[in-house]
Amino acid sequence: MSQISTWLVTGSSRGIGLELVRQLVANPQNVIVATCRDPARASKLATLKESAQGELHIVALDVGSEAGIRGSVAEVSAILGSRGLDYLYNNAAITEGDDSAFGFSYAGLLETLRANVAGPALLGMVYLPLLGMVYLPLLERGRRRVIVNMTSGLASIGLDFGGKNATYSISKTALNMLAKTRPDLIAYVVDPGWVKTDMGGPGAMMEVEESVARLITLATTATAESSGKFFRNDGEQNPW
Ligand SMILES: NC(=O)c1ccc[n+]([C@@H]2O[C@H](COP(=O)([O-])OP(=O)(O)OC[C@H]3O[C@@H](n4cnc5c(N)ncnc54)[C@H](OP(=O)(O)O)[C@@H]3O)[C@@H](O)[C@H]2O)c1
Repeated sequence: MSQISTWLVTGSSRGIGLELVRQLVANPQNVIVATCRDPARASKLATLKESAQGELHIVALDVGSEAGIRGSVAEVSAILGSRGLDYLYNNAAITEGDDSAFGFSYAGLLETLRANVAGPALLGMVYLPLLGMVYLPLLERGRRRVIVNMTSGLASIGLDFGGKNATYSISKTALNMLAKTRPDLIAYVVDPGWVKTDMGGPGAMMEVEESVARLITLATTATAESSGKFFRNDGEQNPW
């Protein structure tokens, strides 16, 4: 009999996060904590509960809020209990659109760094056992210990997209450093591709279903060798 896998996904009200949850709940072996800023407005997420094969829990979590992130641990711990957490999927992000290094909003840059970098970093920290902290060691008790941080091809200095979407690119390049982590964890960053979502726009190259199927395969087949890497959705690597 295959084992239960437990997942926490951020930003699951729409887009790639919603599709991640949709595909994960189709598997009865999955327990998913789908988090979003405002569950009351996440109607598509709520609809998934009706047909879920796996176990789906919807939890409020704003990745731009330190208190919200820290406060979420007790609720998630109560949901998962002794099952622990296997996959922390840092998906939520915001963008300031196509700004530049010489034309950007200072406040927007700080807000983006808060949501796209500080949030995922803090989530990784508080969902691990920390000396002197009262939080339960969720990831330590899980069978898999995987942290996925959703990056972008725009974060790659090597690919050199020419500095467009500067605020967003800066945040994702910073996020990439979160692939460098503890040797007892599997942690990597992945570019989902250019995907048809609100962020990617209708002209994007890839359907969300296709990207997400690949993202789930990448996560479930990840090994210690995957750690510290910058993947594309097909499992090939991007240059840093
Ligand atoms: N689509 C692409 O082509 C593409 C390409 C490269 C990388 N990515 C990355 O893939 C991930 C998902 O992107 P997407 O295309 O699905 O974006 P999206 O359609 O804009 O959806 C973004 C999701 O993040 C949530 N979110 C934003 N700020 C949040 C916060 N402070 N707290 C909690 N949730 C928050 C949104 O929730 P609300 O509904 O509450 O706003 C929404 O569910 C992001 O990390 C993005 O950078 C996307």
